[in-house]
Amino acid sequence: MVSISFPFLVCFFSFHLHAIAQPRNSNISLGSSLTPTGTSAWLSPSGLYGFGFYSQGNGYGVGVFLAAVPQRTVVWTANRDDSPVPSTSSLVLTTDGRLILRSPQGQDESIVPDSSQKIEAAAMRDTGNFVLFNSDHDIIWESFKYPTTTILPGQVLSAGKELFSSVSETDQSRGIFRLKMQTDGNLVQYPVDTPDTAPYSYYASGTDGRGDNVTLNLDDDGHLYLLNSTGSNIKDLTPGGHETNRTLYLMKIDPDGILRLYSYGLNQNGNRSIIWSPTNNKCVPKGLCGLNGYCVNQDEDVDCICLPGFAPVMEGNFTAGCERNFSSESCKNDNGRIRYIIQAAVNTVWENTGYSELSVRSREECEAACSQDCNCDAAMFKDGKCNKQKLPLRYGRRNLDDSNVALIKVGISSSSDESRKHGDVPKDPQRDILIIGLSLIGFAIIVLVISGALMLKVLALKF
Ligand SMILES: *[C@@H]1O[C@H](CO)[C@@H](O)[C@H](O)[C@H]1NC(C)=O
Ligand SMILES: *[C@@H]1O[C@H](CO)[C@@H](O)[C@H](O)[C@H]1NC(C)=O
Ligand SMILES: *[C@@H]1O[C@H](CO)[C@@H](O)[C@H](O)[C@H]1NC(C)=O
Ligand SMILES: *[C@@H]1O[C@H](CO)[C@@H](O)[C@H](O)[C@H]1NC(C)=O
Ligand SMILES: *[C@@H]1O[C@H](CO)[C@@H](O)[C@H](O)[C@H]1NC(C)=O
Ligand SMILES: *[C@@H]1O[C@H](CO)[C@@H](O)[C@H](O)[C@H]1NC(C)=O
Ligand SMILES: *[C@@H]1O[C@H](CO)[C@@H](O)[C@H](O)[C@H]1NC(C)=O
Repeated sequence: MVSISFPFLVCFFSFHLHAIAQPRNSNISLGSSLTPTGTSAWLSPSGLYGFGFYSQGNGYGVGVFLAAVPQRTVVWTANRDDSPVPSTSSLVLTTDGRLILRSPQGQDESIVPDSSQKIEAAAMRDTGNFVLFNSDHDIIWESFKYPTTTILPGQVLSAGKELFSSVSETDQSRGIFRLKMQTDGNLVQYPVDTPDTAPYSYYASGTDGRGDNVTLNLDDDGHLYLLNSTGSNIKDLTPGGHETNRTLYLMKIDPDGILRLYSYGLNQNGNRSIIWSPTNNKCVPKGLCGLNGYCVNQDEDVDCICLPGFAPVMEGNFTAGCERNFSSESCKNDNGRIRYIIQAAVNTVWENTGYSELSVRSREECEAACSQDCNCDAAMFKDGKCNKQKLPLRYGRRNLDDSNVALIKVGISSSSDESRKHGDVPKDPQRDILIIGLSLIGFAIIVLVISGALMLKVLALKF
């Protein structure tokens, strides 16, 4: 039987890429099933793509992946925000025509959005499209219509549809960036959970106003372009014309928020290279560093730095952002336990959420204006303008071409500081007396030590 040979095929295609030629029956019939540790995928006729289980976290996810490259590259994910399933789960195309994920407890979950029609057969196609048919052989559902992170050759991102990045290369859950084919004709990238408006965008094709049914298309020679509703090419993102022999192209929004067109050399062990990307600057995607952090380029890579006076919420997790270690409520009355200084993050740019913009003569004047205002957590100083802000600050990144200085009000506990004071700082007479007293004692000790040393020297000279 066909199903018995599948585990063998999975191994076979993973390690012997040259042998993928023989066509196979791709029709998956009712009653077929998959398990993560047994027959884990239904392969396309050439073995290029598979539909089934892939490793996700401490369990498995379900989707379509490139089966002909050593690293299983997921190109479509079912129920992507569900928890990984255990190895005892199974995927079943039931005899009554449903495609379900069955848990060890016997609970069934639908893999495709509920369709009123009974499934008669399924197919994993060599295009990467996973297709379900009814009894009339009509397509009732196809994965190409529900893109997740990736567009494959022949697949279209239609108007109103979005791609969402994954959390990471190994976690296919929904991440923090999106690419939207807008109904105004513009193809735009934003962070998640933002309105579709220009202040939030970090990439745009610049084709707004070109009709309400513009689509993003990819051809098998790596040609990536936009078509309007009458089928005219309105913009080439890449020229195309790349090698097509045993080479696969796909476009995806990567976990870092950047769009990339990749090529996979199927005769070179799946060797992957980047063909195109709208930017090489990994700090461009807005929100990479979470709240109150800013992105800095470090050679090829990036780092997130917390604002002065802030610390990472979760060590090693950029997205979680930074938080400060004092409460702003203490600004007015804190019995002198906390006082404030202003610290600067130079050449950084942020989302502008200022509540008050002043014209100032100097940076010092801007610092003083924020210090004296309990509502002010930070101020942006640039070109004689002082823009007072409340926390949190978002979308921060270092840009050496931008003179903006972020001035941050930092609370420091009075026991530990040698920093400069700025503006109105709460005073505590008792504390000052204590400091003066301690300083005097310190001075006295130093004098004693020096005179002691001198006396020893004198004695040593005498004898
Ligand atoms: C697969 O199924 C389709 C649609 O049901 C049918 O047209 C086709 O002939 C089948 N192919 C094979 C190889 O069975
Ligand atoms: C599509 O673009 C072509 C060429 O620019 C233009 O002539 C045509 O009117 C456009 N169609 C729509 C619906 O905007
Ligand atoms: C855009 O596509 C939708 C759905 O395919 C269709 O209903 C609508 O008429 C199209 N609009 C234009 C201007 O072509
Ligand atoms: C495709 O490339 C292989 C080697 O990588 C070569 O043997 C074959 O002739 C090429 N086929 C075509 C149609 O160019
Ligand atoms: C992978 O691709 C790159 C660029 O296309 C090439 O320079 C490199 O030699 C390839 N590596 C292998 C193992 O084929
Ligand atoms: C990182 O932080 C984000 C935002 O707080 C959270 O959603 C995500 O689960 C965290 N990731 C890890 C690996 O802890
Ligand atoms: C906050 O942390 C900084 C550096 O870790 C420290 O100098 C400062 O005193 C702390 N502020 C408070 C209010 O604890």
